[in-house]
Amino acid sequence: AGCSGGSDSETLVPGTNAAFAPFEFEENGDIVGFDIDLAEEAIDRAGYEAGSWSDLEFGSLIPSLNNGDIDLIAAGMTIEPDRQEQIDFTDPYWESNQSVLVQSDGDFQPEGESDLDGASVGVQGGTTGEGEAERLLEEGVIAEDDLERYPNYVLAVEDLEGGNVDAVIVDQPVAKNFSAERDVSVAFVIETGEQFGMGMRTDDDRLAEINDALAEIREDGTYDELVAEWFE
Ligand code: ARG
Repeated sequence: AGCSGGSDSETLVPGTNAAFAPFEFEENGDIVGFDIDLAEEAIDRAGYEAGSWSDLEFGSLIPSLNNGDIDLIAAGMTIEPDRQEQIDFTDPYWESNQSVLVQSDGDFQPEGESDLDGASVGVQGGTTGEGEAERLLEEGVIAEDDLERYPNYVLAVEDLEGGNVDAVIVDQPVAKNFSAERDVSVAFVIETGEQFGMGMRTDDDRLAEINDALAEIREDGTYDELVAEWFE
């Protein structure tokens, strides 16, 4: 896979969905965040050049990777069996659970899943958070009409602030970030123990080099510096 030239400036084009702070988000027209820095560092150390970031819908990332529009996904993407049938993942670089966000000063303050009975729940379509909401649907806790799927989590949280949904299920570090910046709070956590990986095409042999680079980034302390920069 990759280009044939053997030049040391072979480009790897990264893609994300930049509405997932602090992993990836827009700031003054730039796409920034932990994933952005981590992926660029890994691409660089693997001996490639990072192309400019494509900001895509979350659900378009895997198709865009497989059709060659992008070469690497860094989007807080959970390593999931159905995704592993379509793409390869790097070694995990993050662990997360899901959090249930509600309005900070609202009347609705659920303490556990059963308290979501009859509530409306917002998620970003195509995410593991949507998967948790669908599980609650199957278990009869929430109703299909009360499950709202948004194109991204910023829109979901705006609707929560506006009172159009009662709760939003989103990855824990992102929930924490929203609660620091908006009028929403974490009501409780759903332990999913999911792991994030970067995605690459199954036939792209640069994956091993990216994995080596990620290991080096952890070993020399760069990883911890990035965590301190974006999460503390
Ligand atoms: N970790 C969740 C998943 O893989 C959500 C990821 C959403 N990422 C984003 N950049 N919007 O489904």
